[in-house]
Amino acid sequence: MEKQVFFAVALSVAAAGFGSIYSSRAETPPENASPIYGVTLPEGYRDWTFIAPAQEAPPLDELRVVLANDIAVNAYRTKTLPFPDGSILVKLAYKRRQSTEFPPATVPGAATTVQVMVKDSKKYTGSHGWGFGRFVDGKPVDAAQHETCLSCHEGNVKDHDFVFTRYAP
Ligand code: HEC
Repeated sequence: MEKQVFFAVALSVAAAGFGSIYSSRAETPPENASPIYGVTLPEGYRDWTFIAPAQEAPPLDELRVVLANDIAVNAYRTKTLPFPDGSILVKLAYKRRQSTEFPPATVPGAATTVQVMVKDSKKYTGSHGWGFGRFVDGKPVDAAQHETCLSCHEGNVKDHDFVFTRYAP
């Protein structure tokens, strides 16, 4: 019995392995990739470098933190624009919550969305080199929401390579 379970698990792990090799060769979009852009949540992003906090007024009423990978951090520190290929920016968002331990303080409440921008100037020729992804509970949201990303970033921050966040000292 235990052996059978073991074989079943081993088989499904092997199948998953072959599946991912096959899909990367066939260039089908990876699982949980955003519509339109095919962006996925980057591995290990929670440990990336802090760039700046932000706060969103009601009705969203959120706290945000923008993190970046090494390529993007280097571009920030050397004031390099446009951001080079391989740059990735991640924005974590949380509901604002009053601290129960110290009422004047605001602390992160429920996590709401994780948003990602990936720079690949060859792949994303129609969006100034940026691919976008918005995730809720690790899953990408629908195409309609992804259709809004470019116009707001394009309309407001085209002089800063379509990126709002500046490096906080
Ligand atoms: C109506 C305007 C608007 C729309 C639509 C929008 N953004 Fe943004 N985005 C912002 C603003 C403003 C910031 C700066 C941080 C903040 O205030 O939250 C930001 C920041 C970001 C950042 C951090 C890098 C940066 O530019 O500062 C990422 C990543 C991001 N957005 C991804 C997305 C994705 C993905 C979508 C679509 C699903 C999207 N955004 C749609 C306004 C917008």
